[in-house]
Amino acid sequence: MSKETFYITTPIYYPSDNAHIGHSYSTVAADTVARYKRLKGYDVMFLTGTDEHGMKIEQKASQCNTTPKEYVDKIVANFKSLWKLLNISNDKFIRTTDDYHIKAVQNIFQKLYEKGEIYKGYYEGWYCTPCESFWTETQLNDGKCPDCGREVKKTKEEAYFFKISKYADRLLKLYEEHPEFIQPESRKNEMISFIKNGLEDLCVSRTSFSWGIPVTFDTKHVVYVWLDALTNYITAMGYAGDDESDYQKYWPADVHFIGKEIVRFHAIIWPAVLMALDLPLPKQIFGHGWLLFGDDGKMSKSKGNVVDPKILCDRYGVDAIRYFLLREIPFGSDGWFTNEALINRINFDLANDLGNLLSRTCAMIEKYFKGTLPLEKEGADIDKELSDLALQVKEKYENSMDKFQFSAAISDVWKLISRANKYIDETMPWILGKDETKKARLAKVLYNLCEVMRFICVLITPFMPSTAEEIAKRIGAQKDVVTFESLEKWGLLKQDVSVIKGQPLFPRIDAKKEIEELNMMFANQNNSKKEKDSAAKKIENVCTKDTIAIDDFAKVELKVGKIVACEPVKKAKKLLKLTVNDSVSDRTVVSGIAKFYKPEDLINRHIILVSNLKPAVLCSVESQGMILAADTDDGIKVIFVDDIPEGSIIR
Ligand code: MSP
Repeated sequence: MSKETFYITTPIYYPSDNAHIGHSYSTVAADTVARYKRLKGYDVMFLTGTDEHGMKIEQKASQCNTTPKEYVDKIVANFKSLWKLLNISNDKFIRTTDDYHIKAVQNIFQKLYEKGEIYKGYYEGWYCTPCESFWTETQLNDGKCPDCGREVKKTKEEAYFFKISKYADRLLKLYEEHPEFIQPESRKNEMISFIKNGLEDLCVSRTSFSWGIPVTFDTKHVVYVWLDALTNYITAMGYAGDDESDYQKYWPADVHFIGKEIVRFHAIIWPAVLMALDLPLPKQIFGHGWLLFGDDGKMSKSKGNVVDPKILCDRYGVDAIRYFLLREIPFGSDGWFTNEALINRINFDLANDLGNLLSRTCAMIEKYFKGTLPLEKEGADIDKELSDLALQVKEKYENSMDKFQFSAAISDVWKLISRANKYIDETMPWILGKDETKKARLAKVLYNLCEVMRFICVLITPFMPSTAEEIAKRIGAQKDVVTFESLEKWGLLKQDVSVIKGQPLFPRIDAKKEIEELNMMFANQNNSKKEKDSAAKKIENVCTKDTIAIDDFAKVELKVGKIVACEPVKKAKKLLKLTVNDSVSDRTVVSGIAKFYKPEDLINRHIILVSNLKPAVLCSVESQGMILAADTDDGIKVIFVDDIPEGSIIR
């Protein structure tokens, strides 16, 4: 019987600059899913690639006195080598400059034109070069690009248009009938209001630059980059090309992983194009959050706050970085990348919890049994608690993994690791080892620990493939006992298993020294004075900042709340009145964020609420608490935690 297929994609990245850790985020996440699905026996197609056309690349290349193709070739090679380093298991890599893609896009454009879905007209409006997006006057935010806040250029030119407006109702129906189509849920509302504000026909060709795919029947036009880019998901499978067999096999995609700022293109333009072509729609668009860094928020070369993943991999190993990216931040929400958090995760989760469990187990088998366990064993009641927990993890883990809740899945694995470490403390093998008559019991305890390691090895395979392989080697597990199905049985390792002691999987790091070094290194690398100052400030903070006791912090009650209503406070330009539900009741919270958020942007968003703050009256409204927000150079940014249910306590 043929296997069930699973098709997953990452965004195709602009090769305008080398990849940074933010780009690695989508790719590592998609790789983890691809590995998880393969582990479960699916026939997986995992696609990534590069989006190489457009005015921005043309400009960059000319600044470097080179051709666009030469320019992108170099950067694409860097992307590919980074994916290799990060152990990315993509099945295909598409470049939008590949011949087969160019031909297929031309075919698609022609087909849409012949079907009357594309027509010729005049474009008049505003263009944002960095986002490659057109905007109408009303869509602009204070005259700037509503996505990135940068300057836009007035443009008028002959252009082809795609009749996207006629798909508005079908798109709304799609979201209603398939609530799982846009994930996380919270991003759907934005799309609905965008469509309800009125969809204007989309300009799908340009004449003002030439680095793009020419329209075959009107060659002064090149295809609008987003049409060129989005179609990669089907052209890479051979659609509108010479061999459509992969397209037939894998399309529709099961999920497109993308960053939240490009959900609009994927949830509106992409399905409308597919509807116009009479093709099936992808099953899900998952818009993950941003990895925020430094004081500036989203990482970008132009802001000079870029973290180079190669440096991190060289210092801590690839798997530590893969682990950190998916453990630290719930997929879907924004989260801060800090050097402190990275080092802490390596030290606590990887070196202490996981690494120690393995090294203690193997070291004791080495010490008491010269590396090979004897056949005679003696069980005890306490063993069942450990084996039961191991057997239960799979279901919870699958539940989280199937919803792309990586952090929750990892957390369940770590509960098993903690339980196993506790089992060592409870059974005290070092005491058993002193008594010749307890050798059979000791052998059983150590066997059980190897078995737990086998479970852990399978469960971390999608996240940390090399570490999993190494663990399997150390505990002498053959391939057939580290399959996903093997998680259903306890006791599959050979009774006379042999182990290898080996070096620590993750050496402990001197946190304070390392954090200082990293802060300085990134500041230097980004060559920006601001970064250097703030790194220096952080080092100073590590050394001198006043501290508070944990009891002081424990007095603050933090909960996740859902904003269910929001309106401006009369006669107070800066204030918004929020109604926040914490799963038990609604309360009013007044917040000084009116300059940065429109009320409709906040509805249904999940925030962090300080819930035991003394009420205060602001402009005649009583505020019963406050919400947490970050003070950034780009203004106040509310901390959204959309993946976490309202009412959750934050500790
Ligand atoms: N070329 C388009 C995508 C076309 S897909 C048909 C594009 N490219 S991009 O290089 O600018 O961004 C690619 C992806 O990287 C986006 O999903 C974006 O959200 C992601 N990231 C870039 N910086 C990021 C962070 N700092 N954090 C998380 N993801 C970020 O958009």
